[in-house]
Amino acid sequence: MLFLMSSSISLSSFLVVGEDVVFIANDWHTGLLPCYLKSMYQIHGIYKNAKVAFCIHNIAYQGRFAFSDFHLLNLPDRFKSSFDFIDGYDKPVKGRKINWMKAGIIQSNIVITVSPYYASELRSGEEKGVELDNILRMFGIIGIINGMDVNEWNPATDKYITVNYDATTVTEGKAINKEALQAEVGLPVDKDIPVIIFIGRLEEQKGSDILAEAIPQFIEEDLQIIVLGTGKKRMEKQLEELETKYPNKARGIVKFNVSLAHQMFAGADLIIIPSRFEPCGLVQLQAMRYGVLPMGSFTGGLVDTIMDGITGFLMSAFRVMCETVDPADVTAITSTVKRALKVYRSPHFKVMVQNCMARDLSWKGPAKKWEEVLLSLGVAGSEAGADGEEIAPLAKENVAAP
Ligand SMILES: *[C@@H]1O[C@H](CO)[C@@H](O)[C@H](O)[C@H]1NC(C)=O
Repeated sequence: MLFLMSSSISLSSFLVVGEDVVFIANDWHTGLLPCYLKSMYQIHGIYKNAKVAFCIHNIAYQGRFAFSDFHLLNLPDRFKSSFDFIDGYDKPVKGRKINWMKAGIIQSNIVITVSPYYASELRSGEEKGVELDNILRMFGIIGIINGMDVNEWNPATDKYITVNYDATTVTEGKAINKEALQAEVGLPVDKDIPVIIFIGRLEEQKGSDILAEAIPQFIEEDLQIIVLGTGKKRMEKQLEELETKYPNKARGIVKFNVSLAHQMFAGADLIIIPSRFEPCGLVQLQAMRYGVLPMGSFTGGLVDTIMDGITGFLMSAFRVMCETVDPADVTAITSTVKRALKVYRSPHFKVMVQNCMARDLSWKGPAKKWEEVLLSLGVAGSEAGADGEEIAPLAKENVAAP
C-alpha cells in the first residue's frame, strides 16, 4: 500500500493507515518525515515495518535554517548529525546550518529523483549537487523519468486548438494551426515559415535571459519566434522589447495562458529549452506529443528524453552560475537554431516529427519503474499492479509541476 505525501506535515493529522506502508516523501518540506517516523512512531511499535522513499524534484531548494533552531524540531539529539550542514554560499549567509533535505536523504530507505541524467548530475560535484553531492554519492540516488498526462495534452482531442490532428494528419493539421496562431498573436500569416516557441518561467533556471541575448543573433533567419511566460520583471521586459525591435518576427507574451500554450504547441515547429539545469522538464514531452521538435541544453531530463537528430536537438551543457550570461551559451543556442532550420528545409524533418509523435510519453513506463523500486523495499503485502493499468489519472494530483 502506498501513501503519497507531498506537502507539509502536521503531526495531529498523521493517520495510521495500516502497518505495512511505504511513505513517499517529496522534497525538503518532508525531510522530517522519516525522522518523526522513527522518533515518534516506530519507538512505540507503530509503523514498525514502514519504509520511506525520498524523492527530489529540484535540489536547488533544500530547507537550510539556522543551526541553533534544531531544538525547535523536537527531535532527539541522535538526529543532529543528519541535519548538520556547512553552507558554502554567501547568499543569504555562509556557515553552519540545519539542512532538512540532507536529513531526508540520510534517514530514508531510498532516494529517487525525476530523471537518470539528473541523478548523475547530482552526484557529479558541488555545483550540480548544490553541496549535497557527497551525501548522494554515499547514500545513492535512483533516477526515474517523469511521464506526462497524455489525455490533457493530445492534439487529436485538444479543445483549445483550431483543428485536431494525429501523426497521419500532422502536416496539414499543423499548417492550419500555425496560420491560426500567427493570426492570433499578430504575426504575418505564412504556413511555410518555421515557427519557434519558448514556453516557461522567465528566470535563470529556464535560461530565458540567455535566449533573449541569442534571439538577435538568429532573428535574421527565415523564422518567427513566440515566447510565452511570466517571471522576473527584468526578463519580462527583455522579452517584451523583442517585439518592438522585430515586429514582423517576434512576439513576447508575458502571461500565464493555458489556451495559448496549447495553440502554440499545435502551431509550432520547434521549441527552445535553454535551461541551465532541468531535473526532468515537461515542455519537451508536451512538444513531442504535438510534433514540435525540442532543442534542449544538455542537462537533466532533457538528455534522457531528447535524442539528437532523431526526436530533437541537444546543445552543449550551459554554465550553471546564474549571475551572468555566458557568451558560449548564446552561441550554442544560435548554432543549434541554425542547425535545426537546415533540417526543417530537408525531408528528414518530417521523419523526426513522426519519431516524436510515435513515442510513448505517458506514465506507463515510468510507473512500472517506480513500482519496481518500491517493491524492492520489501514491505510485506506489496505486489505489482495489473499490467496495462493506467496509474497516471489517479496519481495525477500528486505529481509535482516542472
Ligand atoms: C489567452 O490567449 C487566448 C488566445 O490568444 C486569448 O483569446 C485569451 O484572451 C487569452 N487570455 C488571457 C487571460 O490573456
